[in-house]
Amino acid sequence: MKRFSPLILAFGLAFSAQASDGNDVEVLHWWTSGGEARSVDTLKEMMKREGHVWRDFAVAGRAGESAINTLRIRALSGNPPDAAQIKGPEIQEWGKLGFLASVDDVAKEQRWNELVPRRVSDYLKVDGHYVAVPFNIHRVNWLWANADVLNKVGVQPPQTLDEFFSVAEKIKAAGYIPLALGNEPWQETTLFELIALAVMGTDEFHKAFIEQDSDALTSNKMRETLEVFRRMKQYTDIDSPGRNWSDTTSLVIDGKAAMQMMGDWAKGEFLAAGKQAGKDFLCIPAPGTANQFSFNIDSFVFFKNGATQTTESQKMLAKLILDPNFQREFNLSKGSIPVRVDIDMAGFDACAQDSMQAFLRAAATDNLVASLSHNMAIGRASQIALFDVISRFFNDDNVDIDETMRHIRAAVLADRL
Ligand code: GAL
Repeated sequence: MKRFSPLILAFGLAFSAQASDGNDVEVLHWWTSGGEARSVDTLKEMMKREGHVWRDFAVAGRAGESAINTLRIRALSGNPPDAAQIKGPEIQEWGKLGFLASVDDVAKEQRWNELVPRRVSDYLKVDGHYVAVPFNIHRVNWLWANADVLNKVGVQPPQTLDEFFSVAEKIKAAGYIPLALGNEPWQETTLFELIALAVMGTDEFHKAFIEQDSDALTSNKMRETLEVFRRMKQYTDIDSPGRNWSDTTSLVIDGKAAMQMMGDWAKGEFLAAGKQAGKDFLCIPAPGTANQFSFNIDSFVFFKNGATQTTESQKMLAKLILDPNFQREFNLSKGSIPVRVDIDMAGFDACAQDSMQAFLRAAATDNLVASLSHNMAIGRASQIALFDVISRFFNDDNVDIDETMRHIRAAVLADRL
């Protein structure tokens, strides 16, 4: 948010949103794929049952990049929605500028401090006040595979990067796309992140991207990460330019591609297509990252409106998101695990059970990592710059590795400007 000039800011705040009338709430989000829409529909229904009107403002595309751009324009012209999907350090950025309403009273009533792990709640507060409500914990470092394709080729899901390359070679020879990837910068950066986790290990990854250590950002491990990343390109298909993530997942669902490395919202697509975990599709940690958990937490924030108080509809929405029934329903179809620590995991499939175990294990061994590609580790300025550098490197074999490392360093450090 450092890019808002004080003048624009004053303008935005002075004309701050029209109050929504009483019981309706306009919600800006980017959950538009089959699995995502199914998941958020549960919440719309619950709001309706409670007598509130959900006005949907869904902006599809690029894992939220388009939605956030729209939100910025609306907020700066004094017309923000009542609620919006924002996560990670960006919550602080919006909060510090005074745009967000506190939901402390709901948090107190529902005892969020006891229900939500500290690692999560730190993201949700600005100056000690809750301004965001969390939905879930997504694990980003997954590999999704079509069981039938692997069977036909006669290979096991790869557990290490070396295994990945030997398996991918065989899949390619058998005429399938080994790795489904859509050529959008955030998808490419997701793949880069998962390779970096495997190659650098948690400590070095943390040093580079969280502590923003200049040497770690240009180390030999970073070079190796980029080399592996570039080597993977030959296993993707030529139709990838511009393809969105859910169409990319469909390639695996339909047996055209064997694997996709993507967060567990991909599972939502398999489920929406009527596929079964363990039978039709397999979920394995991204090669070389079995001990790590790259986390991505979805959350909604509430914008201040004309009224000084949070509206009843905003409060109801905040409350329902942490309702135990909603936590189960939503996460069953979204692919993530509940963010409440007291939800019974009975009835969740093997992927979700594994995810929960991996989360607990990673928390106990210091292997929890804020996702780099999903706005959890770095602020918006860095995120945009990083997407650009990574994408340029991946798509042009002439782009030099040393130059790219310098640009990665500059992108990550951009947050400090
Ligand atoms: C992420 C979001 C997920 C998701 C994905 C693709 O940023 O956290 O919930 O569904 O984008 O749209």
